[in-house]
Order: sequence, then C-alpha cells, then structure tokens
Amino acid sequence: MNQRVLSGIQPTGSIHLGNYLGAIKNWVAFQKDHDSLFCIVNLHALTTGFGSPAQLREHVRLTAACYIACGIDPNTSAIFAQSQVTGHSELAWLLGCLTPLGWLNRMTQFKDKAGKHKEQASLGLYGYPVLMAADILLYKATHVPVGADQKQHLELARDIAGAFNAQVGKDYFPLPEPCIMGTSTRVMSLRDGTQKMSKSDPSEASRIHMTDDADTIAQKIRKAKTDSALIPATWDELEGRPEAQNLVQMLSTLENQTPQQILNTYAGQNFAPFKARLIEVLQETLNPISGKIHELMTQDQAFLETCLAQGAEKARTLATKHMHEIHGLIGL
Ligand code: TYM
Repeated sequence: MNQRVLSGIQPTGSIHLGNYLGAIKNWVAFQKDHDSLFCIVNLHALTTGFGSPAQLREHVRLTAACYIACGIDPNTSAIFAQSQVTGHSELAWLLGCLTPLGWLNRMTQFKDKAGKHKEQASLGLYGYPVLMAADILLYKATHVPVGADQKQHLELARDIAGAFNAQVGKDYFPLPEPCIMGTSTRVMSLRDGTQKMSKSDPSEASRIHMTDDADTIAQKIRKAKTDSALIPATWDELEGRPEAQNLVQMLSTLENQTPQQILNTYAGQNFAPFKARLIEVLQETLNPISGKIHELMTQDQAFLETCLAQGAEKARTLATKHMHEIHGLIGL
C-alpha cells in the first residue's frame, strides 16, 4: 500500500521547542521517503473561539514559515491551510454521524480544556477529535507523526476508521499508525517539569519559541528550574526529578545521543556546564531557523502565499478523489 504521512499544528502563534522536537523534526525525516502532507489546522484553532481575522491569517503564514524554516520542503511536501480544502469539514460531519458520544466523552483534552465550564464549551471543541480524524482519513494517510499528547486522538481516529470500514463493508480507510518517536515526545515546561511545554502557558519563560534570539534562549535556559542535586550517572537516579529529566532528554535529542550518553558526560557535575552546552546547542539549532522565519515573514510573503496555494491544490486533488469515493460508498 502507498505510504502517506499527514500531520498538523494549530496556528496559534509561533511554534515552540515541543512542537519542533516532538513533531516537526520527525516530519522532516519522513518527507524524504513518504508522500507527505503538512496541514495548518486553522479550523481547529476556532474551537476555543473566533479571534481577530487578520491575526489568524498572519498566524497561518507564520506557521507555514516555521514549517519551511524547520526543513519541510514545499516542493515535495504539501504545506496548506486546512480551511482551503473543504473535504476536511465535510468528512468531519460524515464521520461524526458514526462516532458514538461515549467515545468522545473519554477524550481527556476536552475535559482539560472545558474544565468546570462544560456547559459553555462549544460543540466544535467537543467534536475536535472527529475533525482531526477527518484530516487524516481524507488523505488515507498511513502514518501520523505527533507528540505523545496526541496519542488518545489517534486511537480515536483508528476507531473511527474501523467503524466506517465496518459500516461500508470494505477496508476503505487504512488504520493510521501513530508515530510518536525519539526521546522528546513530551517536552515539559522550563518552569515546572510536571507540565507540558505549551503555547497556552501564561509564562513566556516556560517555553522556547523557534523565533527566540540567542540572548533570549540563554536567559530562559539559565533560569530553567532544576534542583540542587548533582547530575547522576544513571537514568533511574533521575526518578522524581522531572525538571532534570526534561533537560537531559532535550539535550539528548538535540545532540542525537541517548540520555545515558548525556549522563555519562555530565555525571557528578552541577547543572552549570550542562546548561552552558544546552544553550550552545539550542542556539546552533535555532538561530538558522529563526533567521529563516524572519526572512520569510519580512521579505518573502509572496513566496509563502505561493507555497500555501500549491500545497492546497495538491491536497485538494487527493481529497476530491477520496470524497467522491466516500460519497459513492455512503450513497450520497
Ligand atoms: P498542537 O498544535 O497542539 O501541537 C502540534 C504538534 O506538536 C506536538 N507537541 C508536543 N510534542 C512534544 N512536547 C510538547 N510539549 C508538545 N506540544 C505539542 C503535538 O503532539 C503535535 O504533534 N490536535 C493537534 C493538531 C492536529 C493534527 C491533525 C495532528 C489537527 N489535525 C491531524 C496530526 C494529524 C494539535 O493540537 O497539535
């Protein structure tokens, strides 16, 4: 079977190190030998409410610039905004008609985001995972590279694909494979090692943005929370030290080494030399990326628009073919 990769990020501002290490870095590896589609999920961004139209458009361009600057090649991979291919929302409706409420009620993200105000939360937020399943299934994607936080959503996408196939009596959708890869599948906040690094954390110091300059990176890492114990010789001894675990995993991914190799280098030392190296490697990795993002956003807006238009065209061709087949299978 043809292998196809699809993944996406919400355009809610500049992407952070968690998005990069948990997702985009793996996309770059996948695109070499897979048919790849990388979506900017602007419809998902509406599930917590509409904001400024100009800002949403700007964030779509910024996310496209981040994808390209991180190494996604717009000539081989389709980079596009979800709203530009109407099949996403149409398929979400069709799949929603096959998704039992019981499955949606188990979704932890809805419980976290809706919190105590469940009655005020929108139908869109509740149906968020169905739209995500539609994003994947619309292209009959086989592989979905994401961070660990998306695992439950991908299990649901597989269940929905199975329910559709059972309904139409045909293995129409491949069951998409979650690809949660590497040592940074869950990058944690720099201020609290028990919380995920996230765009919604009010503290800027909790995360590194891909657009941060060298000084900002250095400041954030110097201030990153650690503990007073020395760096141990084995991973097991990091038990109960979430901030230290997070920084070791981060350095190991950036250096392409195992966490144990990192511990071998720094065992018995305090965090000062470790942090100095982490700052250095982050600056080496991020400076070219932030430079490229800046260049694309200030001098190459027309190029970004062209990439998004070409990506949408490529995605639409595939989506139209599949929606036609899906209509036939359902009897529409
Ligand atoms: P979003 O926008 O929250 O995050 C985008 C990607 O970044 C990963 N990620 C992280 N990985 C490691 N550590 C972190 N702290 C961290 N924070 C975010 C996420 O796992 C994700 O891979 N629902 C998705 C977007 C989506 C999607 C899709 C993804 C919509 N449709 C179809 C794949 C396929 C989301 O909100 O991602």
